[in-house]
Amino acid sequence: MCGIVGYIGNKEAKPILIDCLKKLEYRGYDSAGVAILNNGEINLVKSKGRLAVLEEKLNHIKVEGTMGIGHTRWATHGEPSDVNSHPHISKNGSIAVVHNGIIENYIQIKEFLAGKGYEFRSETDTEVIAHLIEHNYDGDLIKAVLKTLNELEGAYALGVLSIDNPDMFVAARKDSPLIVGLGKNENYIASDIPAILKYTRDILILEDKEVACITRDKVDIYNQLGEKQQREAFRVDWDVSAAEKGGYEHFMMKEIFEEPSAVKGTISPRIKGNEIELDKLTITDEMIQNCEKIHIIACGTAYHAGVVGKYIIEKLARIPVEAEIASEFRYRDPIINENHLTIVISQSGETLDTFMAMREAKKRGSRTLAIVNVVGSSIAREADDVLYTWAGPEIAVASTKAYNTQLSALYLVALLLARKKGLLDDGMYHQYLDQLQQMPDMIDSVLNKREQIQKFASQHFNAKSIFYIGRGLDYALSMEGSLKLKEISYIHSEAYAGGELKHGTIALIEEGTLVVCSLTQDQLFEKMVGNVREVKARGAVVLAITCEKNASEVAKIADSVITIPDVDSVLAPIVAVTSMQLFAYYVAVMKGNDVDKPRNLAKSVTVE
Ligand code: F6R
Repeated sequence: MCGIVGYIGNKEAKPILIDCLKKLEYRGYDSAGVAILNNGEINLVKSKGRLAVLEEKLNHIKVEGTMGIGHTRWATHGEPSDVNSHPHISKNGSIAVVHNGIIENYIQIKEFLAGKGYEFRSETDTEVIAHLIEHNYDGDLIKAVLKTLNELEGAYALGVLSIDNPDMFVAARKDSPLIVGLGKNENYIASDIPAILKYTRDILILEDKEVACITRDKVDIYNQLGEKQQREAFRVDWDVSAAEKGGYEHFMMKEIFEEPSAVKGTISPRIKGNEIELDKLTITDEMIQNCEKIHIIACGTAYHAGVVGKYIIEKLARIPVEAEIASEFRYRDPIINENHLTIVISQSGETLDTFMAMREAKKRGSRTLAIVNVVGSSIAREADDVLYTWAGPEIAVASTKAYNTQLSALYLVALLLARKKGLLDDGMYHQYLDQLQQMPDMIDSVLNKREQIQKFASQHFNAKSIFYIGRGLDYALSMEGSLKLKEISYIHSEAYAGGELKHGTIALIEEGTLVVCSLTQDQLFEKMVGNVREVKARGAVVLAITCEKNASEVAKIADSVITIPDVDSVLAPIVAVTSMQLFAYYVAVMKGNDVDKPRNLAKSVTVE
């Protein structure tokens, strides 16, 4: 939800903190702040608004010092304001804290501290942490932080500095992401790797409830009991440019254009000699034969990928699948046993609801397989098996390339399960593998249609409401198309199953209502043609998405047609979604919206 950074070294902390925060702004962008220690004083500068507002403020203030912490906020407790911005300072001004997460028992702690004479300036849960550390401090900052963590309930990634400790700062985490970057005579912390990639590629991952003591020349990690832990650093081999815009106007556009390579990176290494090999998956053939049911659990776009997963796994592997929103699954007392497999899908690997739903499934005996993009994230570390989607960093808040790669991973899983269950003969299986490897080129050909999509967007960006309809996999696809549109264009939108529309929602279709109709499923094509006619008869303007082979027929009934290459119906969503992402993108750009940082949203949702 929020982004945190910390630096200690021999260089000025201010520009480094700001630079790193710029890479984290996607996590939260309603306010920002830094605390920099210098000559026994904490220089605290924070402000409501985008990071640029803080940067401008800092341009006019002399803030020196070679150790500091910084924060970019997505408000949870208290409105965006200067005073609610982080860092928060303890009562006597000696301790500064930045925090990402939610402290669930902050009211109780607040009451306890108020009884001890602490006064609160902000409405945040974070401020209690600063005061509590001060209260627990008896000259040893590590001990004070450890004691404080024992008293906190909820999720946190923390950066803490104190006037008494000019040569170190402390970091800690539980259920919120935090990594440590190792430099030469300098060290860093950040909410994610891309934030510090420009400065170092050597990374340490903190485990839940661990505390790191970070000085210029070393990093010591302690467990909850204060015992020192050994931790191997790992080296990140991505290109720094993966986290830069690289000439594109927005990260979202850059990431849509990366879809062919992201999909290729997810599929190709897993097809070896005409067979699928899924990393080091520990699911045995026996487990597959005995698998009674699969649960796919995720949120938002990842959930929509899961809905596609349900259709394709059921179709190919004939195993019953339930795709479910994580926040519903975790509280509904789901029926699960040890012969069930739970697949969780998450770009960030940190989404709290997905993470907790996975724990719930595990607790009830299910094996868990995580389809995750961020290497070493909480979900990846706790799942029984992980299948990484090699999409590279996704910075734009609206998820695009992550979705196509999640689908890629799900296709691999579905085909593998079908193969192991003896449901696909060699011919069919190899045909699917061949087609799967053609996905990057097919997505490329959709990208080449961008001008046509842009033109259509320019005619409709003032729409009040846009419906998306489709049947079968096209319905799953429509859900994602509709979400993409609403989150960045702020246009009301709904996705409906083509056959369901007439059971109520068709009442909303009037002269000029835009309906995006997907007709990529051979088996359901005629049925969808009927649905297109139904909405046209009520005055709708229809944008149809269909395969090249059907273009002329669809052109007779739709106002505009975007074609995708002739792809097997089962694989169509992975290609067709790109056209919907481009449409949403151009509509949002034409409306003048901040495409990469849409209002009220954050990239990684670590609150319930
Ligand atoms: C939409 C979007 C969100 C995420 C959802 C899950 O564009 O980005 O709906 O898909 O918050 O996030 P992850 O995949 O990180 O678990």
